[in-house]
Amino acid sequence: MHRYERLDGEGVTLALTIAPRGAPRLLYWGPALAPTADLVAWDALHAPSWREAQPDAPVSPNIFPVHGFGWMGPAALSGCAQGGDGAVDWGACSVRRILDAQHGDALAITLRDPRLGLRAELEWHLDADSGVLACTSEIHNDGSVPFALANLAALSLPLPRWAEEILAFAGDWALEGHPQRFRAPIGSWAQINRTGRTGFSGASMAVLEAGAGDEQGRVLALHLAWSGSHRLGVESSSDGGRIAQLEALLEPGEILLAPGECHRTPFAYACFSDAGLNGVMARFHPFVRRAILPRASSGPRRVHANSWEGVYFDFDLEKLKALADGAAALGAERFVLDDGWFCGRRNDQAGLGDWRADGERFPQGLDPLIAHVAGLGMDFGLWVEPEMVNENSDLYRAHPDWCVHAPGAARPGMRQQLWLDLARADVRDHLFAQLDALLGTHEIAYLKWDCNRTVFPAVSAKKPAGQAIARGGYQLMDRLRARHPRVEIEACASGGARLDLEILKRAARVWGSDATDAQERARILRWASLIVPLEAIGAHIGPSPNPITGRQLPMQFRAAIALFGHMGIELDPAKLSAQEQETARAMIALYKSQRALLHSGRLYHGFSEDGAQLAMVVAEDGGRALALALRLEASREAICAPLRLLGLDACCDYSVDLLAPWPAHAAKRLAQPDLWRAPRIFSGASLMQGGLPLPLNAPHTAWLIGLQRR
Ligand code: GLA
Repeated sequence: MHRYERLDGEGVTLALTIAPRGAPRLLYWGPALAPTADLVAWDALHAPSWREAQPDAPVSPNIFPVHGFGWMGPAALSGCAQGGDGAVDWGACSVRRILDAQHGDALAITLRDPRLGLRAELEWHLDADSGVLACTSEIHNDGSVPFALANLAALSLPLPRWAEEILAFAGDWALEGHPQRFRAPIGSWAQINRTGRTGFSGASMAVLEAGAGDEQGRVLALHLAWSGSHRLGVESSSDGGRIAQLEALLEPGEILLAPGECHRTPFAYACFSDAGLNGVMARFHPFVRRAILPRASSGPRRVHANSWEGVYFDFDLEKLKALADGAAALGAERFVLDDGWFCGRRNDQAGLGDWRADGERFPQGLDPLIAHVAGLGMDFGLWVEPEMVNENSDLYRAHPDWCVHAPGAARPGMRQQLWLDLARADVRDHLFAQLDALLGTHEIAYLKWDCNRTVFPAVSAKKPAGQAIARGGYQLMDRLRARHPRVEIEACASGGARLDLEILKRAARVWGSDATDAQERARILRWASLIVPLEAIGAHIGPSPNPITGRQLPMQFRAAIALFGHMGIELDPAKLSAQEQETARAMIALYKSQRALLHSGRLYHGFSEDGAQLAMVVAEDGGRALALALRLEASREAICAPLRLLGLDACCDYSVDLLAPWPAHAAKRLAQPDLWRAPRIFSGASLMQGGLPLPLNAPHTAWLIGLQRR
């Protein structure tokens, strides 16, 4: 006799079949089913049938598959009992409904293998308001001998047949967010990250039906909320079965569960959309805003002025004051002093670990600078890299054994730094005391928490410890946040290598990339925003030529891209021409007038037939919208295809305003500039079907379009 459980949330239903033995099967995940839907009949229709060269009892994919009794696909759990085997055979499955005030409908699923003494506890929550699924798995050793755990998936998701394509991301330093889309091969595809950080390629992927795009088609988007090594995989078998799996990576020998012990995975998050990738954002963004981002970050997102690309390591107090003056004059609201402020730090080879102001640079400490910044009406933020230590530091000289290392082996550096062993409580205590003292004695509103190397060898106390090191980082951050709840944290890792939803439970935003080149940033923002809302992705106006790519871009274009993230400036304002300063000031003012909309509304991406891009935010009540019409490469066609807007009400009229400052070179090609001196009225239908014929031929053109429903 089979039983059925369903989870319902915002336009979707997820149904599981619970067989007398084994893990539940995914019966359905798609548009909402009627409360009366007959799951029994549906299940009977989809019952696996016998076929040649298969076990006598048909084995079909389920949500926690294991090896040993006929399943040949990927295992959600594998390992071996000491002196025994690892052939897991789940007996009866019990399912309870649990009350989850935060997420709504949830199932707690228990599976037991009495022979091996294993018990798996899975939780599947379907967020009522967004339809986002949150899953975690926990394995308990209820037996009498240790169990060596080899892998444990946070989510194993049998995929529907339409999910034929994979969308994943490739990245490197300053090169985050390069999408790769391809047909899922028969066999297995995996993105494996062994860096001990979320990584430049991120922890998100999607499976899609062929032809799915921004606005149309079915998509399942998947994300692993884990700031460490991990695997995102899809395995397809020759019978058409396909399963996606997300897990934190375990090193051999890392998790040896003694009798009575358990191990829990990070959360995996997923959603179904039948409205393409824009439908994915429509589910994830409200969920992340409500259930993930820390509460303290709910105020308006202040305009940052970050010192890094303005002065790098080359500063003294006077220079920083001048930088702050210039930034305040442009409209900045927070001054973030980046790398270089602490003991002995003149370049990237010394000082990490000694979180006290450098006495030569700041003879009277940080307070004179903080007071100066406060006098300009800004609050103050500071860069730290707590997980790291330079060999040339007081901390390393006092505690050379505090870094992650394999005893007796080399300690290979990266950016001349080593990773501190945060699996150790004494190391965490020390770092907590230093950071607590810093925050307790200065008016610091913000920490940019960086992490500029990968973990290798991931060893603590002579054992593989990638998990414990990553969790130690969370513990340190949690403790500091509990003591200083009003201090906002930004997660940065050589740019965008820490963009995941577990760090975003602690950090108000992530630094999207070290690429401040607006052309690169447009791509990075576009793909980071598949899961994360705009306000949580830092985006700054950088210098031109850009220090990393050498590309020269107009201020209006650089600012328009930054405006579609959490905006900031990261340059020396004194080096800008008067015209550039005026443009920057105007764009920052525009950001301030639009941020309430940008940071609460629904985001859409789109493009025109000739490759111009659209990013557009529509207010929750549909009353206002802001669109960014954008071209990165010159158009092949002399006359641009009109850019169709998205998300408007076809039956309403809108007052449409081309917001100044306009892109100077493109404005000259406006057919009737006078027409746009004041807002014009058009119907939602014509804006969405006919589109706006704006001059968008030249590369690096950006128009900002304000819309108000009439
Ligand atoms: C990393 C960060 C940069 C900057 C530097 C400072 O690369 O991503 O934004 O803070 O470190 O060293």
